[in-house]
Amino acid sequence: PDAVVIAVDGPAASGKGTISKLLAQHFKLQHLDTGLLYRAVGLAMLQSGGDLDDPSACEAVAKKLDLTALDPDVLAQHHVGEAASKVAVHPPLRAALLEAQRSFANVEPGAVLDGRDIGTVVCPGAQAKLFITASLEARAKRRHAQAVQKDPSASLEAISADLAKRDARDAGRSNAPLAQANDALLLDTTNLGIDAAFEAARAFVASKL
Ligand code: C5P
Repeated sequence: PDAVVIAVDGPAASGKGTISKLLAQHFKLQHLDTGLLYRAVGLAMLQSGGDLDDPSACEAVAKKLDLTALDPDVLAQHHVGEAASKVAVHPPLRAALLEAQRSFANVEPGAVLDGRDIGTVVCPGAQAKLFITASLEARAKRRHAQAVQKDPSASLEAISADLAKRDARDAGRSNAPLAQANDALLLDTTNLGIDAAFEAARAFVASKL
């Protein structure tokens, strides 16, 4: 039988990462946060002083990426996410990362992939697709609550403005934009706690497998 694939897409801080992790645990599947790949390219470009707007430089870095050496703590940094979203607009870079994502999706017994274009481009044949979203205000408050733990002066307004800018870039690019697949369940977590959001996701996935 084909490996099970669960595709989870949505904007930053929507809860898609947490829900994907819980789904993978529950259904005993592998989990890939595809944002880490774009973040790794963004970080490598920053470290080499390369031009984030140069498609072929970004493509070259993506092709050389050592996928076993991704450090989630370093990649989680805000400026790395910004760089990721800038390099993610380039079609040759996206093409270079496609193969790795699709081979991951083929592991037995199956995998949960989360990102922006999993249900639409990377794994259009996924058995279950979710599009997780939440209001900008709710997402900014979540990021802010995390940020103040490291820096008590972190500004909610600045975080909100950053999220809005990143969403606009991700949804507005012409190649593989952030978008809900036609057959994806829309899950709005604005007023849902993590338990309720996970339960809705779990029930939907269970109905598809
Ligand atoms: O989800 P995360 O914040 O780690 O993603 C960082 C950036 O990588 C996103 O803002 C987006 O531009 C890009 N990305 C993408 N396609 C994916 C996953 C992430 O374009 N499947």
